[in-house]
Amino acid sequence: MRIFEWSEAHAVYIPEVDEEHQQIFRLCDDLQRAMIAGAATPEVLSIVDDLVIHAAQHFSHEEREMREAGYSLYAWHRRQHHAARTRIRLLERRVRRGDRDAAIELLEFLSGWLSDHVRLADRMLGAYLRNHQRELSARAGC
Ligand SMILES: [Fe+2]
Ligand SMILES: [Fe+2]
Repeated sequence: MRIFEWSEAHAVYIPEVDEEHQQIFRLCDDLQRAMIAGAATPEVLSIVDDLVIHAAQHFSHEEREMREAGYSLYAWHRRQHHAARTRIRLLERRVRRGDRDAAIELLEFLSGWLSDHVRLADRMLGAYLRNHQRELSARAGC
């Protein structure tokens, strides 16, 4: 059993981003519980669908923030999202075909990827965005 629990170690201190991360962690936890409970495939698929949608919206949101703020590590960060998008989509297709092992693989993949990505790439982005916002506010105040 993997632990999908958002903690302060995952905080990027951008409220909307933290909320999106929390939602993604919750959906992973829901998926894991459903698998352990032996839930029927349609129920598993409905959680996987939610997860795919939330992850896609969240990646787009962060990428928009990076572009708007002129983030220099945009390409590096986006590549990480892209790799995850591809993997998630592939596994989602397999779950849709009734392959329950793919749901387990999805959980295994996300348990590592999510935590690593949020704690490094997203926290770096959060620090940059907070500084950027402070600079904008300071300039506006002059
Ligand atoms: Fe990210
Ligand atoms: Fe993120």
